[in-house]
Amino acid sequence: MRIGMLTSGGDCQALNATMRGVAKSLYKMYDDVEIIGFEDGYKGLIHADYQVMKPSDFSGILTKGGTILGTSRTPFKTIRVPDESGLDKVESMKHTYRKLKLECLVVLGGNGSQKTANLLREEGLNIVSLPKTIDNDLWGTDVTFGFQSAINVAASAIDCIHTTAASHGRVFIVEVMGHKVGWLTLYAGLAGGADIILLPEVPYDLNVICNALKERNRQGKRFSILAVAEGAISKEDAKLSKKELKEKKKNQVAYPSVAYELGNRITELTGQEVRVTVPGHTQRGGEPCPYDRVLATRLGAAAAQLIYDKEYGYMVAVKNDNITKVPLEEVAGKLKYVDPGCSMIQEAKRLGISFGDE
Ligand code: F6P
Repeated sequence: MRIGMLTSGGDCQALNATMRGVAKSLYKMYDDVEIIGFEDGYKGLIHADYQVMKPSDFSGILTKGGTILGTSRTPFKTIRVPDESGLDKVESMKHTYRKLKLECLVVLGGNGSQKTANLLREEGLNIVSLPKTIDNDLWGTDVTFGFQSAINVAASAIDCIHTTAASHGRVFIVEVMGHKVGWLTLYAGLAGGADIILLPEVPYDLNVICNALKERNRQGKRFSILAVAEGAISKEDAKLSKKELKEKKKNQVAYPSVAYELGNRITELTGQEVRVTVPGHTQRGGEPCPYDRVLATRLGAAAAQLIYDKEYGYMVAVKNDNITKVPLEEVAGKLKYVDPGCSMIQEAKRLGISFGDE
């Protein structure tokens, strides 16, 4: 029996640990299983670039960051658009799958990759998928692997900023990844003791931020730290349509990212010196934390069980600390946002942390 496997989209910690979980379980369940590893995500499936994996390939990778298969982004919105050479990507993927006589394709991916996985399911392929992303924005699962490891990196960036911020008495902005959602910023901000946390789900008012900074000065605090999500947005901009926002940005100074723009505005309005730190892709790098290794192992074993039971068309997921499965059609195309009214935000506000909204 042959099983295909691929990692797709931005990498994260615990991709290897998850593949190890799937592979070790499959090798234990079957005497005759062969795992085909597609290189660089869906690209490998499209162009039939693959390696026949050996059991030893999955040994010693529990703590290894990145992905031994390589990954790439194959945007879902152009999946039906033929590539430069006129190649039909969907037909090519189906062709590779059939040519290799795969029983099932295992996909480790985030939001866009789950959409493609669902499309392949609709096209008749047997699919089992696993929830990968530091953003934790996948609908249908409480948590994704990679998220906790990224919190550790982002929180330790904030920790490091604390000592230098205290010495100089400045305002520091740490910009945290997370794409359109604020999970990573919320957790890293709380873990790192940020004074102000800005999330895409809670649009900010610049005056509220500046007042919070002034109030800290009045209280004799020498410094302030803002944990700002890369997708953070002002109340004003949140009211605009995508098109209107694009038009507005076109006529403004182009900043490298949201933190730089915010930093400049804060200096203009308060006269305070601001420094910006962007940990960027370090948040996806390094080894998975123990929590993610455990999660990866459990999810991997659960995915293998689905294959064994021939239960296809599901993403393995976590619900209330239990490993479960969610139909791919329910997962595809939906994002899991932070609820602005959630208890975590209310608790943080009780401590005096500002979310820039009130
Ligand atoms: O989805 C994971 C993520 O790291 C996001 O947090 C971030 O917005 C994006 O990927 C960065 O993508 P890339 O690595 O393609 O620049």
